[in-house]
Amino acid sequence: MALLRILHHPDPRLRRKAAPVTQFDGALQQLIDDLFETMYDAPGTGLAANQCGVSLRLAVMDCSDAHNQPVVMINPEVISTDERREMDEGCLSVPDIFDKVQRYNRLHLRALDRNGAPFEVCAFGLMAQCIQHEIDHLDGKLYIDYLSALKRERIKKKLSKREAA
Ligand code: NI
Repeated sequence: MALLRILHHPDPRLRRKAAPVTQFDGALQQLIDDLFETMYDAPGTGLAANQCGVSLRLAVMDCSDAHNQPVVMINPEVISTDERREMDEGCLSVPDIFDKVQRYNRLHLRALDRNGAPFEVCAFGLMAQCIQHEIDHLDGKLYIDYLSALKRERIKKKLSKREAA
């Protein structure tokens, strides 16, 4: 296993729409293991492959307090949702910044597991939020896109100072 480098906003690779996974081979298993190791090390609750420069529709997550409930979602699709509510959010690609965004509280997900087998899950709360956040990554979106232009400008300044330090 290996730690991967997490790209930071405004890296243009974070803005590309990732391509569906078609090969469930050894290289994919290695990538999944590396993504988990990198996510737990960060630490974070979710990590999309394209945050590490691999443009594939794949993300790993673990929303448990004990970090013992790893979930892999490949080629994910949201089938249904309910009402939205405001939730606190952060992102490993936008380090040390947190803000409130509107997310669906509950959703029905269809995806493939690490072996390519389809599964469906009804997620709510933090897990539902995490799924939406990671699918946004796969579509080239960041949660800060939902904030005001003024807030985004402030975040950009803060991050460029941080990178320069
Ligand atoms: Ni993120």
